[in-house]
Amino acid sequence: MPPLPPPRQPGRYAIALVCLGNICRSPMAHVVLESRLAAAGLDDRVVVRSSGTGDWHVGRPMDDRAAAVLRRAGYDPSRHRARQYDGTWPAEHDLVLAMDESNLDDLGGRSQRVGLFRDLDPGGPGEVPDPYYGGPDGFAVVLDLIERTSDALVTEVADTLA
Ligand code: 4NP
Repeated sequence: MPPLPPPRQPGRYAIALVCLGNICRSPMAHVVLESRLAAAGLDDRVVVRSSGTGDWHVGRPMDDRAAAVLRRAGYDPSRHRARQYDGTWPAEHDLVLAMDESNLDDLGGRSQRVGLFRDLDPGGPGEVPDPYYGGPDGFAVVLDLIERTSDALVTEVADTLA
């Protein structure tokens, strides 16, 4: 894993997480990553936002199945409201991480600050699969991938800000 792009503002870091609907994967990653950053004492220096490339769910809370799997694991999904990605996000974040290749294409592909969330996964790069049309097991798989990747991302951010 190459080092993260340097902060645009010294000592601070902004991470944007992007999926399709902003009701399942990127909101789950948002909640888990914020929780891990708080545990590492980095929540006052690192901001996380999430959005979807589509506009269907703007303003809505998280998908019930995503919220349930988070609650069962001890996270609070209640504050999420879906937002839509727009072209200003890359200029306002140090890192923009898409959940799958299709989301990445919608962002215009890879660049210095834009890649896939699972580029940081110690279990190997890949996509966070879309669980929306599947059963509840898909959400548990997604949570596992997100927790593992968030731990690695927090370590990288801590190194970058050290
Ligand atoms: P997400 O999942 O991109 O992980 O939030 C989806 C949510 C909604 C839809 C597709 C995927 N949809 O087609 O409405």
